[in-house]
Amino acid sequence: MLESPTTEAGAAPAPAVTEEVLVLDFGGQYSQLIARRIRECGVFAELLPATTPVDAIRERAPKGLILSGGPASVYEPGAPSFPKELLELGIPMLGICYGMQAMVHELGGRVEGAEAGEFGRTGLTLRDGGGRLLGGLPAEQSCWMSHRDSVFEPPQGFTALAASPGSPVAACEAPERGLYGIQFHPEVVHTPYGTEILTRFLRDVAECREEWSPQSVIAEQVEKIRAQVGDGRVICGLSGGVDSSVAALLVHRAVGERLTCVFVDHGLMRLNEGEQVVEAFSRFGIPLVHVDAEDRFLAKLAGVEDPERKRKTIGEEFIRVFEEEAAKLEDAAYLVQGTLYSDVIESGGSDGSETIKSHHNVGGLPEEFDFELVEPLRMLFKDEVRAVGAELGLPERMVWRQPFPGPGLAIRIVGGEATKERLDILRTADAILQEEIRSADLYRQLWQSFCVLPVVRSVGVQGDGRTYAYPIVIRAVTSDDAMTADWARLPYDLLERVSNRIINEIPHVNRVALDISSKPPSTIEWE
Ligand code: XMP
Repeated sequence: MLESPTTEAGAAPAPAVTEEVLVLDFGGQYSQLIARRIRECGVFAELLPATTPVDAIRERAPKGLILSGGPASVYEPGAPSFPKELLELGIPMLGICYGMQAMVHELGGRVEGAEAGEFGRTGLTLRDGGGRLLGGLPAEQSCWMSHRDSVFEPPQGFTALAASPGSPVAACEAPERGLYGIQFHPEVVHTPYGTEILTRFLRDVAECREEWSPQSVIAEQVEKIRAQVGDGRVICGLSGGVDSSVAALLVHRAVGERLTCVFVDHGLMRLNEGEQVVEAFSRFGIPLVHVDAEDRFLAKLAGVEDPERKRKTIGEEFIRVFEEEAAKLEDAAYLVQGTLYSDVIESGGSDGSETIKSHHNVGGLPEEFDFELVEPLRMLFKDEVRAVGAELGLPERMVWRQPFPGPGLAIRIVGGEATKERLDILRTADAILQEEIRSADLYRQLWQSFCVLPVVRSVGVQGDGRTYAYPIVIRAVTSDDAMTADWARLPYDLLERVSNRIINEIPHVNRVALDISSKPPSTIEWE
């Protein structure tokens, strides 16, 4: 469980302390969500490609298998097929959408293309009481569908449990063989009984113990970190974000003062955020090297206007400073990284992927770094990292911090150099925006909210005088993963307060604008 690959040095994986369910991914858009929902039910779930060799699955001995949805039709040439050998394992299996169709098709049922598919909210009618999986649920309910082919007849030995207007067999089961299928998506909130159905499969069919929780993650990771690190020394670069903070706290819990955190304060952070990091970590008694490198970074940024050049300059300087500090801790052989499960999936699965994502640190760390990586968040989704952080006592502000780019405020000064004066103006405006958004209780609903300072000046009038000053642009977006984003509909009275305060409190600003662009076609950041 939480079986991240062994490191290059070949550290032994910790013994499993919880049970697991494996989600075999047929390429569905909700596959990750299935794993998250299962974990919310208290059972650890991991996503594996549908092509994972059966022997590998046998070795993991999961309590249950879920076959996800996917875009294919079972009749398409090359469509992923149901790995029939899985049946020999005798592990309870739930097919969802394409996962059910692949199972039904392979076992001799009838799957056919329908004239029209079913997409979105759809009525579901139970048949013959709903069987083991759906029995006792309302005879009429709604569910979320997303399919073109439908199951017309279940395989021999299966009972049909439900129907929808476009799916004569919207659910079926063969309980004595441990096989279940549903055409709809239980993982989507628009299926009101989805969690109940997943829970039945996990609890009643797969007999899982529902032990997965932030506390169990902490216990398990602490054990794993100890097994990996032994009595070695560890370094962790802190960015102030939730990922590196939680990773550091876990490692500290495991190895105590043998962890040293290095916080390179490049002077491009938000107001007081550097101090918050230092304060939080000293309260935990974690050895922290706080490098105040503002002058160094500003000197390097002098005259740099091009956005990519800015990023590169900051990234290179960051590595230099970090290397200098790391060199002082000569005997440290391990480096903590806050890699998340979504990064692992994105970079092609959980096996042996050791790539350091450049987003995790300003510009990334050099590859020739001679450290073995410790990645305690490798199997966790972002919301789980937050839950673990809260459990470990990380201050609420840091647990719920919105994402912040490594190069910081420098890439929010657009079309010109990031000077100390401009950074201070932007930092003050940003602090006003954050304060008002928090007091309107909107902070957690927004993926990101920040200010941008375009390096242009416009005319204004204040008191009896004409002004010629900068505008500030408010950017606030909602998003799930930053791949797409929508501009947040902030209330007018909030916008008015923010605008008044920014213009009144910051002498160099005489205009506030609101960015109402979605991504795509715009991006979240301006540079
Ligand atoms: P965009 O602007 O591409 O941003 O829509 C997507 C997400 O990535 C963050 N971002 C960065 N993070 N270094 C980082 O660590 C960067 O250079 C960088 N550029 C963008 C951005 O804040 C958003 O969350």
